[in-house]
Amino acid sequence: MHIHIISVVPELLESPLNHSIMKRAQEKGLLTVTVHHLRKWAVNEYGQVDDYQYGGGAGMVMMCEPLAKAIDELQQERKFDEIIYLTPDGERLNQRIANQLSLKENILLICGHYKGIDERMRQLYVTREISIGDYVLSGGELGAAVLVDCIGRLIPGVLNDETSALTDSFQDDLLAPPVYTRPAEFRELKVPDILLSGDLKKIEEWRHEQAVQRTQQRRPDLLEE
Ligand code: ADE
Repeated sequence: MHIHIISVVPELLESPLNHSIMKRAQEKGLLTVTVHHLRKWAVNEYGQVDDYQYGGGAGMVMMCEPLAKAIDELQQERKFDEIIYLTPDGERLNQRIANQLSLKENILLICGHYKGIDERMRQLYVTREISIGDYVLSGGELGAAVLVDCIGRLIPGVLNDETSALTDSFQDDLLAPPVYTRPAEFRELKVPDILLSGDLKKIEEWRHEQAVQRTQQRRPDLLEE
């Protein structure tokens, strides 16, 4: 999978995408992430990519021209399956969307800043708008990093233990069950006996029960969906 990201603050994306599992995904050749600095397509020598909004009001708007030029240039080399704009008024990201996107080959992410991008860019280019939650970030970069991470780890071969993404929270609309490691007793708190029993079938049943219980207690809305 190839993910391209257009940003005015590419530095914000460096660390989250170049460590841990995302680093491994790229080293294995399963994922490429290319960050493009929007200022490369600025309208003047001062690097301008934003302007005052029509109708007045505080906050700048990202201009059409730099963004359109950037996307047109990138599209000459490849066809994007999705052009995604990260925005608080987009559809809220969940595991179902992550699963869908993990099957795509080429994705372009656009990170907004200031008041966001000119509405006409959304009409002309954007195929999908995604929010990572009901709160406002200073820009789309952290949202893009979240999106790349949750998609990237679903690409077959990225995780060492192929089954581990399948047992994540949300993958089957259930939260994950509790997990334990050594020691078997810590400050008088014991690991449940069943996990020490070696009976794999019973352990699976217990984990499923725990997952259902936890979901009922914490996120009953997931069970209704
Ligand atoms: N940009 C600003 N806030 C955002 C959010 N909640 N999700 C995605 N992109 C954003």
